[in-house]
Amino acid sequence: MTMNSTFLDACNKKEPAHTPVWFMRQAGRYLPSYRAVKGNRPVTEIAKDPLLASQVVVDAVKALDVDAGIIFADIMLPLEGMGVQFKIEENVGPVVTNPIRTLDEVNSLKTLSPEEDVGYIFDGIEATLQKLDDAVPLIGFSGAPFTLAGYMIEGRPSRDLELTKQMMYREPETWHRLMSALTKMITAYLACQVSHGVDAVQLFDSWVGCLSPSDYKSYVSDYTREIMHSLDGNVPRIHFCANSSSLLEQFADTGPDVLSVDWRVQISDAWRRSEGRVGIQGNLDPVLALAGGEAMRREIGRIVEQSKGRPGHIFSLGHGVLRQTEPENLREAVRLVHETTSRRA
Ligand code: CP3
Repeated sequence: MTMNSTFLDACNKKEPAHTPVWFMRQAGRYLPSYRAVKGNRPVTEIAKDPLLASQVVVDAVKALDVDAGIIFADIMLPLEGMGVQFKIEENVGPVVTNPIRTLDEVNSLKTLSPEEDVGYIFDGIEATLQKLDDAVPLIGFSGAPFTLAGYMIEGRPSRDLELTKQMMYREPETWHRLMSALTKMITAYLACQVSHGVDAVQLFDSWVGCLSPSDYKSYVSDYTREIMHSLDGNVPRIHFCANSSSLLEQFADTGPDVLSVDWRVQISDAWRRSEGRVGIQGNLDPVLALAGGEAMRREIGRIVEQSKGRPGHIFSLGHGVLRQTEPENLREAVRLVHETTSRRA
């Protein structure tokens, strides 16, 4: 099969045959085929079973006609190999039973052995690649050090990440040790995903938008840069942050190929502020995908128009698909972006 290369073309800033589209959490509970597989299983059980994991990825790609798949995993999974215990609670998110808050706790973290600790992820990648049969590229991913540190320290999802920021300010040595350990883990984990065949990687720094620009520089950016550079000359790298507007230039400075931005920034501003250094992924509000109809179509038109002549645009949502979203709204978004950006149009 000839691969639909639009996603990789856009990552490489070559002009694609149409603007590629994919959605974060495209394999999720809004999709009937996913709910059928999930039943009462925890999400981690699906991720640890290569047959089920590969099935939900491919079901989503087929249901939506998107231009890329993303491996079915969770950002928390490799932390198990470091000795962090967690559960993912429905409608809450990750809950860590042994939060990591002191220097001793940081020092006692284990080193991840990717093939031993998360071998099921790589088996899942191979099974997924086989089922995709080269139809579309497969995106691998990892959580970024700040966002993972946030879950490890807080122990549960938190809006302001107060404990995390307090560790940064009051115990910089503990903070930097934790960030170094996570950077080492993520670098090894992503390298293994690449060696098992993923075509691109996305680094999820979902919650780092809560930092000031100067704190991002002092406490985070060097680690992100190290991870990005570890993949130099390898596969395209996408940087994701929710609430990304205030740190956009700094994210671009860490060396990704593509910046995923949310709806709080006009995409024309994202293009202007990143000065053509990176491609831009985004940035429909997930609530507009939920609402559908004319409001959704109007905003899609605006995003496409403001990205005209920009070969590095990947159309996506600013964050994950919401649970009550009608799959048909996403299918309509895909059709509309494809039709209005097709070079044959
Ligand atoms: O198609 C896909 O994108 C699915 C693969 C995927 C999952 N998690 C599976 C999952 C990906 C890329 C993730 C990444 C992830 N996990 C992030 C970064 C992206 C982001 O949203 O910012 C984060 C922060 C997590 C941690 C996490 N896991 C949260 C906040 C939740 C939501 C809890 C809930 O019930 O709403 C999860 C659970 C989770 N991971 C779900 C999925 C499909 C939803 C629960 C389910 O379907 O069983």
